[in-house]
Amino acid sequence: MDPIQHFEANKENYLNELLDLLRIPSVSADSKFKGDVRQAAEFVKSKLEAAGANAELVETPGHPIVYGEKIIDPSLPTVLVYGHYDVQPADPYELWDSPPFEPVIKDERIYARGACDDKGQMYMHIKAFQSLMETDSLKCNAKFMIEGEEEVGSSHLEDFVKSNKEKLKADVILISDTSIISNDTPSITVGLRGLSYLEVEVTGPNRDLHSGVYGGAVANPINTLCQMISSLQDADGKITIPGFYDKVEELSQEQRAEMAKAPFDLDEYKKDLKIDDIKGEAGFSTIERTGIRPTLDVNGIWGGYIGEGAKTVLPSKAYAKISMRLVPHQVSDEITELFEKHFKAIAPDSVKVKVTPHHGGEPAVISTESAAYQAASKAFEESWGKTPIPTREGGSIPIVALFQQELELDPILMGFGLDSDAIHSPNESYGLFNFYKGIETICHFYRFFSELER
Ligand code: BES
Ligand code: MN
Ligand code: MN
Repeated sequence: MDPIQHFEANKENYLNELLDLLRIPSVSADSKFKGDVRQAAEFVKSKLEAAGANAELVETPGHPIVYGEKIIDPSLPTVLVYGHYDVQPADPYELWDSPPFEPVIKDERIYARGACDDKGQMYMHIKAFQSLMETDSLKCNAKFMIEGEEEVGSSHLEDFVKSNKEKLKADVILISDTSIISNDTPSITVGLRGLSYLEVEVTGPNRDLHSGVYGGAVANPINTLCQMISSLQDADGKITIPGFYDKVEELSQEQRAEMAKAPFDLDEYKKDLKIDDIKGEAGFSTIERTGIRPTLDVNGIWGGYIGEGAKTVLPSKAYAKISMRLVPHQVSDEITELFEKHFKAIAPDSVKVKVTPHHGGEPAVISTESAAYQAASKAFEESWGKTPIPTREGGSIPIVALFQQELELDPILMGFGLDSDAIHSPNESYGLFNFYKGIETICHFYRFFSELER
């Protein structure tokens, strides 16, 4: 039997298994869910085994890594699949139309935290593998590395990769954790932004003060923090941190013209987000603003009184979490340092500033010239009837640059999500069409990849 026919005959079961996985609240950021994270790892391991791989849980100081492999013949090429079984916190729960860990199918879509990022996309790989195995169609070796800490910076996966280079030896790294342009226009991701994430604390007076007795005479750390943050971007949307743009790769007019060929519907974009206008760095298109330009965003800001009613208080402290998305050749640690230096330099004497770096990651660009890319492109042509467009995406998967550096392999980012899937947001969803089409495309990829001349 053909693997695609096999999968067609079993797709209901495959979907139900995914729903079981989505019921496990594997939130890596919150220690309250530690047991659930492990349960999700066990689930993935058992499904890899059921599909025909040898699998194990690799313990780390954090959440376990699921490693699995099927070696058909050591002389054959090897596909290494990477994905993650952890999910973002589901908060705020009250904004979900149905509970985040009780998946429902509505209008041909699966609604649940992790439906797209990344349980739904990762699970396509296990099921594609199973269909290939059960129809005797796997003509190369397959390795799986499914981690439980992607959403919190992948710090332990880094150690695992660095100390297991031989075990992870492969010819390509295949990842489905990104998006396509639309279901009419498939694409392959060839760029991801890097990340520098930090927290700032601004301290004014030694205690919270009466905002009438002291207001106007003592610096309010929230007001000061807001002024400092707003000075980080100028009227053109350029970031004002000295040196921030020094290493930014400027694309040629030809490269930018090539990028502009990708379809983009601004009205649809605004409609999806219910906004009347967009905003970004002057001189760049929306696709460029998220694909090839670095940014700075406040992800959270707090301080003072936020309970019910009013309390007249001039707070002692104010806080913010800030992310900077980076592009080739910016370096995460360097940008964090530039930020810290600048933020301290612009702080008035009336406050003290503390900067605490969180996780980071390097940007990545992937060549469209490799044989693996050609196999991926052909796989899309076969299942979608269209040649996929190479795109650069705004999100980050820090481990991709690490794979390139440590394993010297070009990853293939064959994601099947849509921007409108609302990953990290309430009511995250994943289209059944994308789940099934993804499995089909992955099966084709294995075939074309195995058939490559070497
Ligand atoms: N799958 C996403 C990254 C992504 C989403 C890339 C859409 C391209 C398109 C991943 O799970 C993620 O959310 N990464 C984090 C970084 C991490 C260090 C927390 C991100 O981008 O914020
Ligand atoms: Mn992801
Ligand atoms: Mn994510």
